[in-house]
Amino acid sequence: MQFRDLKKQYELLKDDIDKAIADVCESSQFINGAKVKELEKTLADYVGVKHCITCANGTDAITLAMKAWNIGAGDAVFVPDFTFFSSGECPACEGAAVIYVDVDENTFNIDPQKLDEAINRVLSSGKYRPRAVVAVDLFGLPADFPKIRKICDEYNLLLLEDGAQGFGGSINDKKACSFGDISTTSFFPAKPFGCYGDGGAVFTDNDEWANIIRSICVHGKDTSNPDDPNAKYNNIRLGMNSRLDTLQAGILLAKFDAFKNKELDAVNKVASRYNEKLKGTIFKLPEVPDEFYSSWAQYTIQLPESINRKELQTFLKSSGIPAMIYYIKPMHLQGAFKGTVSEKSECPVTVRLCNTVLSLPMHPYLNDDEIDIVCTELNNYSAK
Ligand SMILES: Cc1ncc(COP(=O)(O)O)c(C=O)c1O
Repeated sequence: MQFRDLKKQYELLKDDIDKAIADVCESSQFINGAKVKELEKTLADYVGVKHCITCANGTDAITLAMKAWNIGAGDAVFVPDFTFFSSGECPACEGAAVIYVDVDENTFNIDPQKLDEAINRVLSSGKYRPRAVVAVDLFGLPADFPKIRKICDEYNLLLLEDGAQGFGGSINDKKACSFGDISTTSFFPAKPFGCYGDGGAVFTDNDEWANIIRSICVHGKDTSNPDDPNAKYNNIRLGMNSRLDTLQAGILLAKFDAFKNKELDAVNKVASRYNEKLKGTIFKLPEVPDEFYSSWAQYTIQLPESINRKELQTFLKSSGIPAMIYYIKPMHLQGAFKGTVSEKSECPVTVRLCNTVLSLPMHPYLNDDEIDIVCTELNNYSAK
């Protein structure tokens, strides 16, 4: 059994994907080919925002937002303590003080009440200027944007939605990657909407930021005349080299219909079956609040403290079941933040989650028999 079965997906979509790759090779426009533009238009329309700017990966996407906002020394950026490293790494690399905020134990996402408290702590210390919130759609579930948006408006903070894991999710009918002033995603292969290498995108309704980001992506090129072939060599700001390859754009376009019309529905069915089979057991199951829709990057359970997680993981592995730990360490305890303001964060929920979470196989092509085997083995272990 695969944790995320990319091979099965390829076998099913092979004809379209192979054709897309061949088309790009045929055109030989490997950078900035027509498929990059087509993908950006397709994804902007799907998400419901004005601009989609593709880039090299989800980490660069966050960095591009930070740079467009001129986040730097003296600024405080609020980030959930329970997330992948990039969410905090990017603002820290720009020189900002990263303030880690605890998460909600039911949704794994940033806790709005604790966010409010953290902002007030920073304001009363007077040491840093609160500038932005990075809210992560962890494991596919959108963060609590209705509440987070109110807080950002109250304190005049910029909101970045880190939708690296959340593409395809929604709240009511509003899609993930449309909630931030700028939103970002990753097309890393194992993500809900993944390519065959690294890839990422930035989404925004703001023309000025979109323009700056398009410039920063290509070494700070002049974007005043998009049709000028020489603009690339007229560098008006310092930037980076962060573009999505045309091959990856072609692959994503070839996968898009299946993602939208089948895979999102399929992963939600997998989650429902897990919920049904594991209901009433000793495991705490992931919760999706009313009106929220998850794209299920992960299906993550919480174990009682009495269970030895490592032993359970080995037991499952011996039955051919891969289970992973996301995340083993709170962000504020990562060595990279030693001696900085980030290290001082207090996030007891995150600390507990890091000791008790276990992610089970999750992908659109997991069948009922496989799900049942996972649940049976979990129950066999807990009955021991
Ligand atoms: C929450 C989150 N943010 C950002 C990223 C970074 O994406 P990438 O690996 O494409 O740089 C990831 C990737 O795992 C992620 O999970």
